[in-house]
Amino acid sequence: MEQTNVTVREAAADDAPQYAEAVAALIRESAQHHNIHPRNVEDIRRWMTEGVAVIALDEDGIVIGFCYYHLWSDRMVTHSALVVRPDRRRQGIGRQMKDQLHVMVERDVPGAVEISRTTCPVVVHMNERIGLQQCPLSDLTSDPAFWHECEHGCRDYALVNAPGSDVGQPNPIGTRCCCTGLIRRQ
Ligand SMILES: CC(C)(COP(=O)(O)OP(=O)(O)OC[C@H]1O[C@@H](n2cnc3c(N)ncnc32)[C@H](O)[C@@H]1OP(=O)(O)O)[C@@H](O)C(=O)NCCC(=O)NCCS
Repeated sequence: MEQTNVTVREAAADDAPQYAEAVAALIRESAQHHNIHPRNVEDIRRWMTEGVAVIALDEDGIVIGFCYYHLWSDRMVTHSALVVRPDRRRQGIGRQMKDQLHVMVERDVPGAVEISRTTCPVVVHMNERIGLQQCPLSDLTSDPAFWHECEHGCRDYALVNAPGSDVGQPNPIGTRCCCTGLIRRQ
């Protein structure tokens, strides 16, 4: 069911003072139940100001969703920190935000290759729906910063990288990762 009373739009610098803390809280609360890592308010403000973020607002102007894109060093780009407030999930808001973000990526970084790394089956489904295909992790960016995020943000990192572990797959920097990789083939 598409929500006509919800506004999904590119975030702007003006939004940062009003919404960044609420977005950080939304992500922090979701991180208690899902494999999404908390982000700090300063980063969220910066993404809004840089024009790389999308927000969803309800009929009262309360923030109910967020995501942003990140450009990695080899011109690969991810949709990151995708979140919708629990009581507004399954209403098409996540899909609308990803569609908006995709338009922004095409506008701002023409020729960039969209990639994804996720443990969330819903996100796999959403990315396949917009044309990404599952791939080995070795096809994704070799930017070390991308893979170092796992160490700080993934709740399964220690388990997957325990000595002798064969969980997940090796990634381009030689640690292991239990995500599904996806890429938009050109
Ligand atoms: C992932 C998330 C952002 C999806 O947002 P959403 O607004 O509920 O998604 P949508 O309503 O747009 O649904 C998108 C698609 O996924 C499907 N879907 C959504 N939630 C689902 C669920 N729990 N089970 C099965 N399918 C689901 C929808 O049916 C829809 O499929 P369709 O396009 O074929 O119709 C939301 O569940 C969330 O915030 N999760 C917690 C944070 C998280 O895990 N983020 C991802 C980090 S990688």
